[in-house]
Amino acid sequence: MTFEHLFTPVTVGQHQIRNRVFMSSATLMFSNDGIVTDRHVAYYAERARGGIGLIIPEELEIHPSAAGLPVKWLHGWPDQAVAGFRKLTDAVHAHGASIFAQLDHAGTIHDPAVFDAPGAAMAPSPFGHPGRETPKAMERDEIAEVIEYYARCARNAVEGGFDGIEIHAAHGHLPAQFFSPLSNFRTDEYGGSFENRMRFMLEALEAVRGAVPHGFPVGVRISLHEFAPGGLDLEGTIEVAKAIQAAGVDFFDLSAGRPPYSYQRSIPTADQQPAAHLRDMAAQFRAEVPGTPTFLIGRVVDPKVAEDVLAKGQADMVGMMRAHVADPEIINKTKQGRADEVRYCVSCNQECFARVASGRPIACIQNPATGRELTLAMSRLRRAEKAKRVIVVGGGPAGMEAAWIAAARGHDVELYEAAGELGGQVRWHAKAPDRAEFGNIVENLKNQLRVHGVKVHLGVRLTADDLVEAGADVTIVATGSKPRVRDAFAEWRPDLPHLPGFDTADLYTSWDVMSGERPISGRVVVLDGDGRHEGAAVAEKLAALGVELHVVTPFPQFAPGLVPSLEFASSLGRVLRGGTSISTTSLPTAVEGRTVRFLQTATGEESVIEDVDAVVVLGGKVPDEDLYFAVLDRLPEVHRIGDCVQPRRIAQAMYQGHKIAREI
Ligand SMILES: Cc1cc2nc3c(=O)[nH]c(=O)nc-3n(C[C@H](O)[C@H](O)[C@H](O)COP(=O)(O)O)c2cc1C
Ligand code: SF4
Repeated sequence: MTFEHLFTPVTVGQHQIRNRVFMSSATLMFSNDGIVTDRHVAYYAERARGGIGLIIPEELEIHPSAAGLPVKWLHGWPDQAVAGFRKLTDAVHAHGASIFAQLDHAGTIHDPAVFDAPGAAMAPSPFGHPGRETPKAMERDEIAEVIEYYARCARNAVEGGFDGIEIHAAHGHLPAQFFSPLSNFRTDEYGGSFENRMRFMLEALEAVRGAVPHGFPVGVRISLHEFAPGGLDLEGTIEVAKAIQAAGVDFFDLSAGRPPYSYQRSIPTADQQPAAHLRDMAAQFRAEVPGTPTFLIGRVVDPKVAEDVLAKGQADMVGMMRAHVADPEIINKTKQGRADEVRYCVSCNQECFARVASGRPIACIQNPATGRELTLAMSRLRRAEKAKRVIVVGGGPAGMEAAWIAAARGHDVELYEAAGELGGQVRWHAKAPDRAEFGNIVENLKNQLRVHGVKVHLGVRLTADDLVEAGADVTIVATGSKPRVRDAFAEWRPDLPHLPGFDTADLYTSWDVMSGERPISGRVVVLDGDGRHEGAAVAEKLAALGVELHVVTPFPQFAPGLVPSLEFASSLGRVLRGGTSISTTSLPTAVEGRTVRFLQTATGEESVIEDVDAVVVLGGKVPDEDLYFAVLDRLPEVHRIGDCVQPRRIAQAMYQGHKIAREI
């Protein structure tokens, strides 16, 4: 593919952008006081260096009421913010990329009660975000002050060196709270008729326009469809856009959805939406609102898809936000014909959105450098002073990451894996319904092993003697973990060596289910002590197999670990298909023959499920550490990484592998 459209510059307002790929805005949670940090600068500089055309960094909150003042977001209004903007924009410009500011007031969405901040949430009407406190209806002087702050932030953005400005009016943020009939019940000049509902948006636009030089690009981010009952559909959005266009705008940044009704449209995971899921709606928008450049986002992780969207004329620029969280250099690698070195994002949200949503700095499940650019940016990777012979034992994500990074630094690396294929437990997750794309974490790593010349041996289980005989300069043990089965849930009954019946029952492990190696049918009970992706994957797979499924879990809900990544609803939907029963706050107490007993901790009563054909136990894991201890004193330099240190999440395991490979 030639990518001729993607690498064609585009002019927005009077500003030229070097190519057609942009990063839409995403909160990073790096700041401590609302001001740009060195960590922001390093994060965005790395992506500018990687070849992207335009960066729209983390939103600038425009007013103290914008978020009840949580300090982790960037603030646009303080005069002292400008020096940080300048540092950031200079760093991005130094690599030839453009940078626009996003001005944001989230209204009721950033509830101070949720974000632990003082101040009141404000909105056009006392209509809130379900599950949160009702916001205060904005008084006229408050509206006037917020509009003035749009202008103030726009002036700061210009002074700070930004090349353009985007007003955030998508995802049900404040301007949309005014113009969407869903949330505006005012009876004054800001509510009622379409013209009145548009007033806030148009005043904000006018304020920004008035604060920037002639020709300076000013655009609006808008949801093509709110996917919310009573909210705007595509037709309604087009009407809004025409009014904005008539007032004068240089681009539309097209997204979709409105939390909490439709997160699956704004930041979808791979099981929820196909790549470029908004392309048809975006094409219709363009046809009906011609003459203004459009930016389109939505699960575009591969530049080939971006090129196709551009070639078909469905948008002028294509957003690849999470694609750049996963790999800052994706554009240059594509341009240089190094596509097989890309860490393609798998749209899992498990470390990017899930962390940010809980107030922690952004990271990526498969890129240990993300969020750690100050120390681990790939541009900081240095060749080793002395090339060493390195043996890595274990081909899960930690071992693969350690192997290719060590090889990229010039070491001579061999990787041994006992199984017939690479990937460790990632392979399990990729076998769950609609989760195949998750397996690209392994494909990305396999490519890197090949590109960097790692010698891979599959189906070879090395012993301690083998390793001693091989006598590598550095041995990295990444042998993973084993499921706890017989002593699963033992913590709940510390007075017993194991729960009654767990020592003799024919229990299934998650891998028995996910691999399909043991047939399973009839009435199946899953004892889910995981509460995260493993438990969810097993339940989803069994529901898809059509068994009579009963999930028993000590957690207060099914798979609470899937809530922050926005995967919960789609997973639960797949599990409930076919009439699955779920018993929450329930502790397994015994497996007696074909009877499973558990305690409802809420009521203190025992429940039973009888005539059970199979019991699947997810009771945690233990490190597979024997090999490590067997070679520790017999070899010159031994490290262990990943689950064989302590069972852990993929991101943590890969971080450890990455880090050790940088240090040897
Ligand atoms: C961690 C994270 C934070 C986000 N924060 C914002 C934000 O502050 N403002 C915004 O307009 N969109 C935000 N988004 C949405 C993204 O800009 C983008 O529209 C979404 O990720 C879909 O695009 P993609 O598939 O290219 O990632 C965020 C998304 C993620 C994953
Ligand atoms: S955590 Fe998942 S969705 Fe987020 S950038 Fe990484 S691979 Fe993509």
